[in-house]
Parts: sequence; C-alpha cells; structure tokens
Amino acid sequence: MHQDNWSLKAKKMGYRSRAVFKLEEILLKLHKNQINKVLDLGSAPGGWSQFIINKYPHSKIIAVDILHMEPIDGVQFIKKNIEDIDSIQLINSQKGKFDLVISDIAPNLTGISAVDNENIYELNKITINLANIYLSEVNSAVVIKTFQNNNFKSLKKEMELFFKIVQTYKPAASKNKSAETYLYGAR
Ligand SMILES: C[S@@+](CC[C@H](N)C(=O)[O-])C[C@H]1O[C@@H](n2cnc3c(N)ncnc32)[C@H](O)[C@@H]1O
Repeated sequence: MHQDNWSLKAKKMGYRSRAVFKLEEILLKLHKNQINKVLDLGSAPGGWSQFIINKYPHSKIIAVDILHMEPIDGVQFIKKNIEDIDSIQLINSQKGKFDLVISDIAPNLTGISAVDNENIYELNKITINLANIYLSEVNSAVVIKTFQNNNFKSLKKEMELFFKIVQTYKPAASKNKSAETYLYGAR
C-alpha cells in the first residue's frame, strides 16, 4: 500500500495515527500470548492504545508520554517522562504484572546522527529495563521501536539477556526508506 494510504485508512477507522497498522501486524505475526494488561510507553497521540482497547476491550492499559494525550475510554494516561516512571505509584505498584509492554518512543532528533543514535539507544535501554521489571515472568512480551544503526546489534544482545525469543520486524506500514524497525522480545 502507498504510504499515504495508511494515514487515510487510519483516519477512516478513527485512529489517531497510522502507527496502529505497525502494531497490528507485529502482534499478528509474532505475538501468541493473551493480552490483558498493557503498558504503552510514548503513547501520544494514542493510536496504539486505541488499537489495543478496540481489539481487546477487556484489557487494562496504562499509557505514558511526556506530551499530553487526549483521553481514551478504558486507558489510564499519565503525563510523564519514562525515565521517571518509578515515581508513579499506580505503575510502581504493578511490577511483574503486565503481559505486554509496547514502546513506540522516538526522541526529538537533533539532526546530528551520532547524538541521535545515542539518545535512541539510551531510551531503548530504559525501555528494555522497564519491560524486564514490569512484565510478568512468563507469557509476556515487549515491542520496541528502534532504528537500524551502529547500536542495533548491542541493543539486540542486551534484549537477549532478558528475553527467550528476540525478533526484528519491519512492518509494511513502516516506510521503506526509514531506518525505523521494531524489536519483539518474549518470555
Ligand atoms: C511516534 S510517537 C508514538 C505514537 C503512538 N504509538 C501512536 O500510535 O499514537 C512517539 C512518542 O514518544 C514520546 N516520547 C519521547 N520521549 C519520551 C520519554 N522520554 N518519555 C515519554 N514519552 C516520550 C513522544 O512525546 C511521542 O509522543
């Protein structure tokens, strides 16, 4: 499908972002476990949370972003930097209880690739640590947006320390020319 058509399709379906089709494909292709309790990191404007609550209406979702996110029925939103997530009592009290962590986080780009790559790497590492802490020990998984760059191999290795299965996946809705890709880790 032409890239612009993903945006049109999202709009028609009432989704806030075309990113929903990336998550949909990743989960369809790779995720075999149940989805009951989800932590959505870098959730704004809210497409991924909307998709989860539509597809799994009985699931509980906590969404976190440094930017404001308009409310979504069934989703608890917290405006916070993921680096400070442990200070949120609601989340902190639920360590080991989530079955899915999804992170579509992208840092603000400076245009200096060495700096951008380090920023992405740092946020990705924080996400992996959070997933490790907040996911249950079995039948749980994490989806992380990252980029194909010189840190990619180290990042994947780091994930392999915490997850039994680690897979790389580039969904059709992710622009071919973009270095964006996704890592899926399952326990
Ligand atoms: C590509 S958007 C997410 C789109 C979302 N998955 C959707 O479908 O609507 C990336 C988000 O990550 C957020 N973000 C970047 N750094 C963050 C951080 N340190 N803590 C929390 N959110 C962050 C940005 O504010 C932005 O809203």
